Amino acid sequence: MIKSLGIIITAATILSAGEGQKGVEGLSKDTRTLLADEMKYIEKGMHHIFSSIVKGEYEEISKTATDIHNSFIFAQNLTEAQRAELKANLPQGFIDLDRSFHAAAAKLSEAAEFEDKTAVEENFAIMTGLCVQCHSAYAQQRFRAFSE
Ligand code: HEC
Repeated sequence: MIKSLGIIITAATILSAGEGQKGVEGLSKDTRTLLADEMKYIEKGMHHIFSSIVKGEYEEISKTATDIHNSFIFAQNLTEAQRAELKANLPQGFIDLDRSFHAAAAKLSEAAEFEDKTAVEENFAIMTGLCVQCHSAYAQQRFRAFSE
């Protein structure tokens, strides 16, 4: 009796905690591929920005950061069904981090326009920190090092 009650409570806790949100594992193959494509795209962009920072190529930094900013996953290339799917599966915390990340990209682009070395470095570091923060919370299956 006690044992079965425990199971019911556990099941209820899991259901209420998740509220049907399974994270990226709950996405269809196509939508998950779209997310992975965006990730590869921003990773490439970050490499390019790094090279441009060390060479003082501000125009390149600004252009690439704007491209990253515009790649905002919720704004592009999504069918209505995919948009609904993301909303249903990704928790608010994920959406907030995605938003912060893209806001930092806009700030980086602006800093580069002003050739503000310090602000460029700061915003690049903020963006890198947000990659790690989001992966630690929502991409543990892909990046095992973050699973503890
Ligand atoms: C808002 C959350 C979030 C942010 C911010 C984020 N990522 Fe990701 N990223 C993910 C998730 C979730 C996955 C795992 C997707 C999966 O398992 O299908 C992922 C996967 C990846 C992958 C693997 C893609 C593949 O081939 O499967 C790369 C590369 C990557 N991210 C790079 C980055 C870089 C670089 C940054 C920062 C500049 C970044 N990500 C920022 C959530 C994020």
